[in-house]
Amino acid sequence: MIGGGYVGLVSGTCFAEFGTDVAIVETNPDRLTALREGRIPIYEPGLDRLVAENVEAGRLTFGDDIAAAVKGADAVFVAVGTPSRRGDGQADTSYVYAAVEQVARVAEGYTLIVTKSTVPVGTGREIAKIVHATRPDLDFDVASNPEFLREGNAIVDFMKPDRVIIGTDQAKPGGTQRAQDILRKLYRPLYLLERPIVFTGLETAELIKYAANSFLAMKITFINEISDLCEKVGADVNDVARSIGLDGRIGKKFLHPSPGFGGSCFPKDTRALTAIGRNAGSPVRLIETTVAVNELRMKAMGERVIALAGGDVKGLTIGVLGLTFKPETDDMREAASIVVLDQLDKAGAQIRAFDPAGMETARAVLPKAVTYCKDALDAATGADILVVLTEWNEFRSLSPEKLKTRMTGRKVADLRNIWDPESLKEAGFDYISLGRPDMVHTA
Ligand code: NAD
Ligand code: UDX
Repeated sequence: MIGGGYVGLVSGTCFAEFGTDVAIVETNPDRLTALREGRIPIYEPGLDRLVAENVEAGRLTFGDDIAAAVKGADAVFVAVGTPSRRGDGQADTSYVYAAVEQVARVAEGYTLIVTKSTVPVGTGREIAKIVHATRPDLDFDVASNPEFLREGNAIVDFMKPDRVIIGTDQAKPGGTQRAQDILRKLYRPLYLLERPIVFTGLETAELIKYAANSFLAMKITFINEISDLCEKVGADVNDVARSIGLDGRIGKKFLHPSPGFGGSCFPKDTRALTAIGRNAGSPVRLIETTVAVNELRMKAMGERVIALAGGDVKGLTIGVLGLTFKPETDDMREAASIVVLDQLDKAGAQIRAFDPAGMETARAVLPKAVTYCKDALDAATGADILVVLTEWNEFRSLSPEKLKTRMTGRKVADLRNIWDPESLKEAGFDYISLGRPDMVHTA
C-alpha cells in the first residue's frame, strides 16, 4: 500500500484484518514515526485498535522502503493524494505517477498496480505507459479500485461497502483474468458477505468514483437551495427533505442542509469532474453549477451571521462550535469554517472556537486571531453570538439555559439545525437556522 493517509491506512489495515499481509509505505517522516510507534496520525474511530491488533498479529507493517514492500507482493495499491491543481481544478496526478515510477523501478516479476486514489479518467492508461517506459521488460497489469469510505465511518464503510468497483484493461490482448483473480481473492471476505462487486473497464471504474461523489454533492446542493427557498416562502426544509426522501427513488440520505459541503473529496472531485467533462468536450453542467453554488453558499453563511448581528460584527465576540468539515473527524480540508471564520475575522469579530477533534488541524488554516477554547461552554463564554458550524453530537445536548449563563448576548446561528427552534426562542434567544422559520424576537 503506497501512502499511509486516510485511505491507505484504513484500506491497508482492513485488508490485514481480512487476513492479508500488508506493508504500508509512507514517505512523510512524521506520519511514519507515529505509525511505527503505534500512534494513529488521523482521528478515525476504532482505527487505533484495529491497527494495533493487526500489527501485533504480524500482518501489518509500516516503512519507507518501496522495494521491500513491493517485493513478492500480489498487488501494489497506490493510495497517495490527488489534490486539486490550482487554477484549472483538475486533479493533480503527480504523486500517483511518481509513486508508480518508483514501483516500476523496483518491481520483480508480474506486478499488479491498483489505483485506490481517486484519479481522472485516463490515468490507468497513463500509468501503463509510465511503467512500460520505465521497465519495458516488466510483466504487469493496471487496475482501478476506487475507494468509497467516508471519514468518521471509514472502517465500517470499508468492511461493509455498498459495492466494490474493480476496473481492468479490457482492451488488453489475452484479457485481464489474472488481475481480476488477484483482486477477487483479496476481496473474498466481502463476497462471503454478499457485497456486490462490479467488474468493469479502467475508464468506467475511474469515472464511477467521480460520478458517485458528484451526485451526492449535487444532492446536498439541491437541498441547500431548497432550504433557502423554504426560508423565503415560510416552508420547513426538514419536512421537505424527509418527505421527498421517503420516495425510494430519491432516498433520504444526503438531504441535510448545511453551510456547504467540504472535506477532502467532494469539493475537489466535483471540480475534477467538471474539468474531465470540459476536456472531453462533454461539459457536466449540473456539476459546474453545484461547484459554483457551494462556493457561494459558504460565503453567504458568514453574511448571515453578520446580518444576525444587525449588519456589523466589529468588536463583537463570536463563539463557534465545530470547525471540521463534518463530525467524527479532525479533517479541516475545505471545511465551511475556513470561509466563514475568515469573513468574520476580516469584519472585526473576536472568535472563540471549539471543536472536539479538529483544534490542532484548524490552527494551521484558520485566522491567527482565533482563540481556541477547552470545551463548548468555554467557547460560548462572553459570546454575543454563538454559531454552530459542525454537528458534533456533544453539542446537541447543550441546554439553552446553560448557554445563557455563559453568553453575553442572546443570538444563535445554528448552521446545522442541531437545536429545536422553539426551545431556543422560549429561552429568549434570537435563533436562526437553515430552511426553518427564523425565531428572532421583534420588539
Ligand atoms: P492523504 O493526504 O491523507 O494521504 C496520502 C499519503 O500518501 C500521505 O500521507 C503522503 O505522505 C503519502 N505519500 C505521497 N506520496 C507517496 C509516495 N510516493 N510513497 C509513499 N507515500 C506517499 O490522502 P487521503 O485522504 O488518504 O486520499 C488519498 C486518495 O484517496 C485521494 O486520491 C483521495 O481523493 C482518495 N479518497 C479519499 C477519501 C477520504 O475520505 N479521505 C475517500 C475516498 C477516496
Ligand atoms: C465523501 C463520500 O461520502 C465518500 O463516499 C467518499 O469516499 C469520500 O467523500 P466524506 O468526505 O468523508 O466522504 O464525508 P461525507 O459524509 O460524504 O460528507 C461530505 C460533506 O458533505 C461534509 O461537509 C458534510 O457536512 C456534507 N453533507 C453531507 C451535507 O452538507 N449534507 C448531507 O446531507 C451530507
